[in-house]
Amino acid sequence: MALNKKDPTSTNVWQKLQTHFEEIKDHQMIDWFNSNPNRAKDFTIQWEEFYVDVSKNRVNAETLKLLIDLAEELDLKDAIKKYFSGDLINETEGRAVLHTALRASEDAEIEIEGNNIFPEITEVRNKIKDFSRSIIDGERVGFSGKRFTDVVNIGIGGSDLGPAMVVEALSYYKNHLNTHFVSNVDGDHVNEVLKQLDPETTLFIIVSKTFTTQETLTNANTIRSWFLKSADEDAIGKHFVAVSTNLEKVKAFGIEAENIFPMWSWVGGRFSLWSAVGLSIAVSIGYQNFESLLKGARKMDNHFRVSSYENNLPVVLALISIWYNNFFKAETEAIIPYSQYLNQFATYLQQAVMESNGKGVDRSGKPVTYQTGAIIWGEPGTNSQHAFFQLIHQGTKLIPADFIGFVKPLHGNIDHHDKLTSNFLAQTEALMTGKPDSVVLKEMIESRSTDIDIGRILPFKVFEGNRPTNTIFIEKLTPESLGKLIALYEHKIFVQGVIWNIFSYDQFGVELGKQLAGKILKELENPEFEIHDASTKNLINHYRKLTK
Ligand code: F6P
Repeated sequence: MALNKKDPTSTNVWQKLQTHFEEIKDHQMIDWFNSNPNRAKDFTIQWEEFYVDVSKNRVNAETLKLLIDLAEELDLKDAIKKYFSGDLINETEGRAVLHTALRASEDAEIEIEGNNIFPEITEVRNKIKDFSRSIIDGERVGFSGKRFTDVVNIGIGGSDLGPAMVVEALSYYKNHLNTHFVSNVDGDHVNEVLKQLDPETTLFIIVSKTFTTQETLTNANTIRSWFLKSADEDAIGKHFVAVSTNLEKVKAFGIEAENIFPMWSWVGGRFSLWSAVGLSIAVSIGYQNFESLLKGARKMDNHFRVSSYENNLPVVLALISIWYNNFFKAETEAIIPYSQYLNQFATYLQQAVMESNGKGVDRSGKPVTYQTGAIIWGEPGTNSQHAFFQLIHQGTKLIPADFIGFVKPLHGNIDHHDKLTSNFLAQTEALMTGKPDSVVLKEMIESRSTDIDIGRILPFKVFEGNRPTNTIFIEKLTPESLGKLIALYEHKIFVQGVIWNIFSYDQFGVELGKQLAGKILKELENPEFEIHDASTKNLINHYRKLTK
């Protein structure tokens, strides 16, 4: 069954939210803290090793109640049921959305149109397990009998970002293998990676759900030619494996059945790291750790399915984000992990969130009349504090931010970790409390500023505050807690798509550019121009003049 097609702005509660917004939009969060000593506790959700404090938001109990009413009026419960039961909720592509099945427990029975898909999932899991073990243990070797030292993932988008983010995030748990990622069709990318490799000891994993993606096939062919300078054709089978739904195309590339890891149409690329797309993860941290990643996600799935909305992390975070997006008209959301390991987390979320919810047409095919997906950006703290925090603190834009931190460091360096954590906590406090002119004045007098200086400089030192943040405080970065964190955001995306009445699981918006690039590619070879605007035509000419 399909998802409903209700316009959120036509619900009764939308109007109430609008009225409520007018009432509280200028309210200072700090005043709510002053009037309610329990606010921090009231707005904190503790679940497993997650401590999520949403109290530093421009919401009160009434706001959350109304937002939950909105979720109810839009049948979120029913949508969640359909999502987990394999209904064809990716309606425009006629597919189920079942990345959750990839991490389901071994006794699960999950059906798509009457067929239990779990046996296939188990089979592929076992294949990942055996394969990763044989590479790590050195049982499977390269063409000259040497053990593998390097693994290269060749893929782009969902076939790159998830695995690349997780491999870096879990590098503390990594084994002796060096893992590389080649994604961009920019030849300089692949060449820089190849420079570091020895063909005798490198394993290549070509990941492409469709096996038609220009970037991935170009890189795979370049790497294949490079490899064949040192090895014979029959060595390909030892060094190249593929992950794809398109078995025929993979075979045509020269990869045999035993080296193909199947994928399924019911897994979207950007949600596929839990499948064989995550092979580079399993190879680099070992299957047991990969399983813990899945287990973490599975626990978050259960939390999301069964918890009441008030205590439901993905639901609460999704609703608060809708509050800023649709009522405060915030355009962007920042993701600030206080862990260098999560360096690529915001980049990964950019695809997950923006490819899913960057849609302007509702589920009935009509243009939406309200804002949908937020622009996601961010970098780890503390580096980001020295880069763009100026704008978050004193700029003209409202930027709700998720601060993600870990209570325990992995290498046990408490001196560093106390400093990191003090910054993590200080920033959300500073963003909320700001610094009024009275405090700036006092400080300037204490530091013996002259009256002239005070008159001149004071306004620039004021922080208006009242800037919202969520604090996601997790005990420790482990494969399991990372699995939970990723699944938390996956479900947040789902909830928002349901409420915005859009289809979150297609991505037609990436097609037009691909089509035009195909045309222009031919024209770079052949000067017979098709019809282009004058600017594009000039640019094509400029390139041709200097290169052809
Ligand atoms: O261009 C967008 C996209 O289709 C993504 O959705 C996908 O993750 C990526 O390209 C790669 O696709 P494939 O795995 O089929 O190569």
